Amino acid sequence: MDFRTDKLLHGGDYNPEQWLKRPDILEKDIEMLSESGCNVVSLGIFSWATLEPEEGVFNFGWLQGIIDKLYKSGIYTILATPSGARPKWMADKYPEVLRVDETRHRNLFGFRHNHCYTSPVYREKVHIINKKLAEEVATHPGVILWHISNEYGGECHCPLCQDAFRKWLKEKYQTIENLNDQWCTTFWSHNYNSFDQIESPSRIGETQLHALNLDWKRFVTHQTADFLHHEIQAVRDGGSNLPTTANLMYHYKGLDYFKIAKEIDIVSWDTYPTWHKEDAIDTADDNGLYHDLMRSLKGKPFIQMESCPAATNWQGVSKLKKPGVLFAQSMEAIAHGSEGALYFQIRQSRGASEKFHGAVIDHYGGKDTRVFKEVSETGEALKKIKELAGTVVNSKAAIIYDWDSQWAMEDSQGPRNKGLHYMEALRKFYRGFRRQGLNVDLIDMTCDLDKYKILALPMVYMFKKGFAEKVRAFVENGGYLITSYWSGIVDDTDRCYLEGTPHGLMDVLGIRSTELDALYDWEENRLIPVQNNELGLDRTYTCKYLCDLVELRGARSLMTYGEDFYKGYSCLTVNEYGKGKAWYVAADAERDFYDDFIGKVVADSGISCGVKGEIPDTLEITVRKNDDVKYYIYQNFGTEAVELPLPEEDVEWIYGTGEDKLKVYGLAIAKIKIV
Ligand code: GLA
Ligand code: ZN
Repeated sequence: MDFRTDKLLHGGDYNPEQWLKRPDILEKDIEMLSESGCNVVSLGIFSWATLEPEEGVFNFGWLQGIIDKLYKSGIYTILATPSGARPKWMADKYPEVLRVDETRHRNLFGFRHNHCYTSPVYREKVHIINKKLAEEVATHPGVILWHISNEYGGECHCPLCQDAFRKWLKEKYQTIENLNDQWCTTFWSHNYNSFDQIESPSRIGETQLHALNLDWKRFVTHQTADFLHHEIQAVRDGGSNLPTTANLMYHYKGLDYFKIAKEIDIVSWDTYPTWHKEDAIDTADDNGLYHDLMRSLKGKPFIQMESCPAATNWQGVSKLKKPGVLFAQSMEAIAHGSEGALYFQIRQSRGASEKFHGAVIDHYGGKDTRVFKEVSETGEALKKIKELAGTVVNSKAAIIYDWDSQWAMEDSQGPRNKGLHYMEALRKFYRGFRRQGLNVDLIDMTCDLDKYKILALPMVYMFKKGFAEKVRAFVENGGYLITSYWSGIVDDTDRCYLEGTPHGLMDVLGIRSTELDALYDWEENRLIPVQNNELGLDRTYTCKYLCDLVELRGARSLMTYGEDFYKGYSCLTVNEYGKGKAWYVAADAERDFYDDFIGKVVADSGISCGVKGEIPDTLEITVRKNDDVKYYIYQNFGTEAVELPLPEEDVEWIYGTGEDKLKVYGLAIAKIKIV
């Protein structure tokens, strides 16, 4: 089911249930929402106790009333299912709905997201309320989308979940012998005689069987996806055909979002970057990377569902956004393929844990606040650029980001238990492409590679069955591959590959990784260019943490190590394979290396973002398009105004202009007809 509106969404989470005794405030909120250019709110996210104050007693009137009033003021509703937090009566009457932690203790009532995904009682209660919401509330024309639960996450170790885990394992491995083989259980005599003996990992029990840990994580994703599926089925049973979303989180390692995304129609996510902690371009890059990941989950536009209009209250230091940052952050979402810019939240709550969390309307309640003004300016701009709604972001460069591989790599002992610096490595690769103005997809190992020209594998520790063959075919057909150290080491159940690594790609890369040196935090080595190397690299760079020693098996050396007993060994190689080329980056090099090296690979590949001249270091360029037009979206995340490198074709400026320099946090959008 496709999600489409003819506008870019602007709005956010709204909790009228906290203000039912203040109709004057609710009245004023709607007026202020319209004035700030908001056209959508998410309702009902944590409203279960108001919707069903006692078991089987439902109260939807307040919600229907507010949806209607909003609609009459031009504001749509994204309707949530309330499963993110359950009422007290339910926890008291049916304790099985509460979660059990890894030490096998059941939680008391409290917090949110504190429920068992397996419990038949919880599933039944969710089914009843979701179905009723579909029948009685979602039929209103103002409702455009289902917001299923809220930020699914966490795990439950109750007996029901243990049983479900065992069933899942039995289905996967069929026989216990097979499981023992694949999990390497003979190590330390951890062999199982039957599936009934298996327990989820626990710090008071088993944590050393890495394949068990890995399968448990896979099971948690499976069970959460199954619960999500169940929630969606309930609204379908209630007759609603509206599209669905679930709001995902930043850098959340607990769930494989590629699998979760399969259950929903549109991906949405919640972003809370710590602007002003580091250079704005670095924060923008990091935020952009997650936007790109979220877009890549379904290969479709997504929604920025939450972001803070002011300061959060849960970060170590909850800093205000400086003027212009709210606008820039909202526009960055749009640039990367979001269909809107939404906030948490519309009105600040009066008590409890989020009373100091920033909101569009704060406790003061007036329009004459800096935040309200900036929200309104953002609303104006979104109206001005609304033709971007429904356009897509296509990429020629992709990076492999795979939850299974990351789980397995980070759980394994060695080669550096003090930190593999995986995310930093990923960011450096990503930045290398983005500094060339390229759109980038982040994909897992199941994704199709045909549409890409360049594929990067930063620390892809696990090569799942068939992946190496797929990458080989990609290079054979003319693809450019960049692989890094610590790739292709283990199979799907974390068993080390025999007969050489990177498994299945040694001939494609023309090398074999022989040994991996882990460096102390204070140690460094250097990458020295081979004279007259074919990429024209002419600088020396430092590297840290991990240095792979490779044996050349046909590849040409472009750089060599400068220190240690492996001084002179190759640390950057290239090999031709079929119609393509494959590079191997052997060490965790400093950021400049990736900027320069990836810049040269991109130039060699013939792809380009299509602008003339140098791209300033602090400028983000992203391209959205449809069949007829493309939009170059420029954003300045530096500390001074910059010149814009203009597209090669004639342009029409739909926001800002290419004539003046682009101011700090500014936006300019050029439109080009595709002929
Ligand atoms: C998350 C939740 C929201 C709210 C915000 C606060 O994203 O989904 O309900 O708690 O955090 O930043
Ligand atoms: Zn459970």
